[in-house]
Amino acid sequence: MDLAYMANLPQEEFIERRQRTLAKMQPNSALLVFSEIEKRRNNDCDFPFRQDSYFWYLTGFNEPNAALLLVKTEQTEKAILFLRPRDPLLETWNGRRLGVEYAPPILNIDEAYAIDDFSAHFPKITRNLTALYYVPAFHLWGDKLLSESAVNFTDFLDWRPILSEMRLIKSPNEIRLMQQAGQITALAHIKAMQETRANRFEYEIESEILYEFNRHGARFASYNSIVAGGNNACILHYTENDQALKDGDLVLIDAGCEFAMYAGDITRTFPVNGKFSQPQREIYELVLKAQKRAIELLISGNSIKQANDEVIRIKVQGLVDLGILQGDVEALIEQKAYRQFYMHGLGHWLGLDVHDAGEYGEERSRILEVGMVLTVEPGLYISEDANVPEQYRGIGVRIEDNLLITEDGNKILTAAAPKEIEAIENLMQKNRQFLKM
Ligand code: GLY
Ligand code: MN
Ligand code: MN
Repeated sequence: MDLAYMANLPQEEFIERRQRTLAKMQPNSALLVFSEIEKRRNNDCDFPFRQDSYFWYLTGFNEPNAALLLVKTEQTEKAILFLRPRDPLLETWNGRRLGVEYAPPILNIDEAYAIDDFSAHFPKITRNLTALYYVPAFHLWGDKLLSESAVNFTDFLDWRPILSEMRLIKSPNEIRLMQQAGQITALAHIKAMQETRANRFEYEIESEILYEFNRHGARFASYNSIVAGGNNACILHYTENDQALKDGDLVLIDAGCEFAMYAGDITRTFPVNGKFSQPQREIYELVLKAQKRAIELLISGNSIKQANDEVIRIKVQGLVDLGILQGDVEALIEQKAYRQFYMHGLGHWLGLDVHDAGEYGEERSRILEVGMVLTVEPGLYISEDANVPEQYRGIGVRIEDNLLITEDGNKILTAAAPKEIEAIENLMQKNRQFLKM
């Protein structure tokens, strides 16, 4: 069978995930997860296909128009896959399909049926079951198939409390892939630093990043890349990336690859001309200090909220010292006066999705556990029309790394991307000498 059907994780891992899911389901229940479908970009062209993360998590199967059904009765536990049947003509045009015959042996599934026969099989398979774990409005095409099937469950339950919690704690194999995603992403940020100079366009730097992702086997970015020169950095989700980079400005790059379905998510901010100005240095050092303190605090037993409270304190004190905020630090924190310069959270879970599955608790107060992976991304954004001393206007800085919570603290999966001022300046300087520019 073609290697394209093989997941980048051992089959045992997907089998074990399904078994663990079945173990958490109540007796006489079924759990239904649909795959993603092809999405049209324009006329007869589709966006690149990306599998649904939950479906992938349980199957390692990368085709559209499929559904996984887990069935648990008093006597048996079964995994059943609905998928597209083989079709030589369509496969000649659109690519290979695994097909109904090969799904059980290749994916270690108990039974497989054509997805077109879903409405015929589903009621029979689930006839004596009382509960269905399902998330409506997640995949509308799935809702439609289900609505066309005659079912009579008495209970409908949400599978997210089971599956999201499983996804939140990464296995050793997942950690290996996430380490690789972090490493490739770091290499791309190094490449961006090497290639940046005044008058190049933001999209030119984006292209260097995407090239670096691709040549290491990460075919896609895990989200749309942000390459934001100067004041553009103050637009948090700036993705136009169509402006020329200016001498004397900073550039903020938030870009991450997707490797074997797992996301990297790094932000680095550095000077277009390779040398930080004094005001840029002051803001950058403040964000870096806050980020380093947060990394010390993001360990098992603590929460994102605890680290963020400390980050806020450091930033507010720093902004007061620089004359950007005026007043008493405690009162400014109380009034949330920092929100005009720091308006997002400190970090989020990372995994198959860049904003990964799992509950956060109120104000992200959930206690961190070994095996969780999250980002740490403080920033300060002082827009060009902010009412602050002139030298600080138009400076936006974010520094983002990916952390694995370990037994003895945490591991920075993205440490290969430089973030110390000296390291960034040296790297950029070296490349300029080499290029004689
Ligand atoms: N790049 C998305 C984020 O940092 O959350
Ligand atoms: Mn992030
Ligand atoms: Mn990011």
